[in-house]
Amino acid sequence: MNQLEVLVVGNGGREHAMVLGLSGSHSVSALHCTPGNAGTNDLATNHNVSASDIEGIVSLSKQLDVSIVVVGPELPLVDGLADRLRLEGIPCFGPHSEGAMLEGSKLHAKQIMEQLGIPTGKFKVIRDPSSINDSLDEFDPPWVIKRDVLAGGKGVTVSSSRKEARDAIKHGIELDNFVLLEEYLEGEEASILVMMDESGYVMLPPSQDHKRALDGDLGPNTGGMGAYAPAPVASPSVIARTRKEIVEPMHHHLRNSSTPYRGCLYVGLMIDQDGSPRVVEFNVRLGDPEAQVTIPLFRSDFGEALMATASGKLESIDVEFSNKHASTVVLASEGYPGEVISGRYVSGWETKIEEGEILGLCHIAGAVISDDGRLISTGGRVLSATGVAPSLAEALEASYQIVEGIDLQGSHYRKDIGSGGL
Ligand code: AMP
Ligand code: GLY
Repeated sequence: MNQLEVLVVGNGGREHAMVLGLSGSHSVSALHCTPGNAGTNDLATNHNVSASDIEGIVSLSKQLDVSIVVVGPELPLVDGLADRLRLEGIPCFGPHSEGAMLEGSKLHAKQIMEQLGIPTGKFKVIRDPSSINDSLDEFDPPWVIKRDVLAGGKGVTVSSSRKEARDAIKHGIELDNFVLLEEYLEGEEASILVMMDESGYVMLPPSQDHKRALDGDLGPNTGGMGAYAPAPVASPSVIARTRKEIVEPMHHHLRNSSTPYRGCLYVGLMIDQDGSPRVVEFNVRLGDPEAQVTIPLFRSDFGEALMATASGKLESIDVEFSNKHASTVVLASEGYPGEVISGRYVSGWETKIEEGEILGLCHIAGAVISDDGRLISTGGRVLSATGVAPSLAEALEASYQIVEGIDLQGSHYRKDIGSGGL
């Protein structure tokens, strides 16, 4: 089988990882990406339709006559890209808008979990500013306050300061008329990406993202500063419980919905000291940077797995993973996750490591090739340095060897990625 013509939607490190995975798939004969970035440009034809332009992507898919559209980010899914593509008869990896509400609305996700008895923290909706103090009394600090909007992991305030919590709630109510107050979950986080359609599901190797900006899990939340897989915190017994208590009921629910869910369900877990998994959040796509460390672990053909999911035939194929380890270290622009300074040249990013079974390379995210042919930063997370190796220590060594060789004025990266897995 060498016939799939694929369009990948998005322009982050995740999409570069998808394009790389697809470029190594025997099933794929042509690769397109929109809008793509400097990394996807080397392996696919980039197009200049934005990931938020639903009609533009539908027209492009028809014009290119692609076999499948693979959607990276959540926004076009929430906005109905998969619904539109299916109307045109084009298979899409990524759920329809109803399924995407699991990420589009944290309240909706909590209500579904409540209905299905899925383990998660308790929560409360606050609409009335005069009830803030009473509500805070109902939960122990630190308080977790979430706006019910898509905010790339940055719409969350976690604080033990009553004043800060109160201000965050007030501010959220002013903006959106309500906020969620959630129980703080103790433990260690892990991400379980699950490819899913109505026929079945496949759990990818567990990964761990590092969400805080600074070493030692300090500083503000970010979109993710680095990741590694497999993450040993998700032990075989944690995986078994996650499958039974979370993935099975979600699959049962989603396969029976009016339109089947075909894509990735990202289960964000908090695992407590006893090894009990609870859901922090659902996302409806591959994680970024989790994709950079899970796609390289596919032993089976990645393109075939995406196509099977998008056509509701996942159960009919075997999906296998290698027993290697992968790590990725994000290089962020000065100021990230606050106001970033971009438009700066990046050098040293082309270095690759290929030493026996050890591989290293950069996944490009917020960067483009400028008119003078040099890489220039355009966003907060500029790239991530990925290592794949027989051991986590060797993978991390490759990641750090690459990131240390990169020059970008004012940039920063965490020095402790993967330390929890060593
Ligand atoms: P979210 O936008 O829901 O993904 O939250 C972003 C990050 O905030 C999560 O990955 C956690 O690190 C942290 N977080 C969110 N909710 C909670 C919670 N209930 N307890 C502890 N940490 C949380
Ligand atoms: N790495 C977190 C996310 O993709 O939401």
